[in-house]
Amino acid sequence: MSEHLCIERDGGLLTLRMHRPDKKNALTRAMYAGMAAALEEAAADRSIRVVLLTGGQSCFTSGNDVADFLQAPPAGADSEVFRFMRALFDFAKPVVAAVAGPAVGIGTTLLLHCDLVYISRDAQLRMPFVNLGLCPEYGSSLILPQLVGHARAAELLLLGETFSGAQAAQWGIANEALEDGAATLAKARQMAQRFLTLAPSAVLDSKRLMRAPGREELRRVIEEEGALFGQRLRSPEAIEALSAFMQRRTPDFSKFG
Ligand code: COA
Repeated sequence: MSEHLCIERDGGLLTLRMHRPDKKNALTRAMYAGMAAALEEAAADRSIRVVLLTGGQSCFTSGNDVADFLQAPPAGADSEVFRFMRALFDFAKPVVAAVAGPAVGIGTTLLLHCDLVYISRDAQLRMPFVNLGLCPEYGSSLILPQLVGHARAAELLLLGETFSGAQAAQWGIANEALEDGAATLAKARQMAQRFLTLAPSAVLDSKRLMRAPGREELRRVIEEEGALFGQRLRSPEAIEALSAFMQRRTPDFSKFG
């Protein structure tokens, strides 16, 4: 289990907290593996009724560890990141997210697979895939235009524009924007606990019905995006962009044509 993942059990509520503050909770392979294992175990454990996913009161996650992207890019469906994506995508019980501070890359796209999202007003969300020489992932190229319309999705996915927690709530990506990280976590926990009082099978059946339409198409898109993302990670454009981040400089794409 990763030292950067805190797992807490409180009755039927399982909380997964990403905890790597010195790197803004950037996700390592061990963190993905830990979150995947926790979700897989929670899926099989009848006594767990709901999962709360958070990064704490000041940072959700800065996304995939950029150094890992350069040194050990995920290879195929068996990689830790894909195992995590599958575990969340297939998770039949409700998932509640509490988001504060930066939520970058998969930190934003995973929210599209949660059931309830509470967010601090000044959270900073961003999907800088094109900016990193990459492409959208985790179904975002399909889900986001459906949710917010093509024009806004193009700003977010093609330009990699940053948006706030308040905007995420306005656009239907989050349920509610709250004043700060503490209020966000408290609200998310309170709403997660509501599931503990509901009829468990009725909740499962209802989530399954809500997620069913277009599900196989979405699974196919996630696979297609994943294959392209893996190829792009090894492209000269991505290597330039990722190296530039590590070297704290602006990437130079002028030589690509
Ligand atoms: N992978 C690896 N390290 C990361 C990281 C990531 N995704 N995000 C941040 N870090 C590291 C920084 O390199 C820095 O490390 P250092 O202190 O050893 O130099 C530390 O975390 C703090 O980050 P910093 O950029 O100084 O914090 P900030 O508050 O100015 O900005 C972010 C926070 C999240 C906006 C910014 O770090 C960022 O944009 N990160 C990259 C996000 C990204 O591109 N993710 C991949 C998406 S596919």
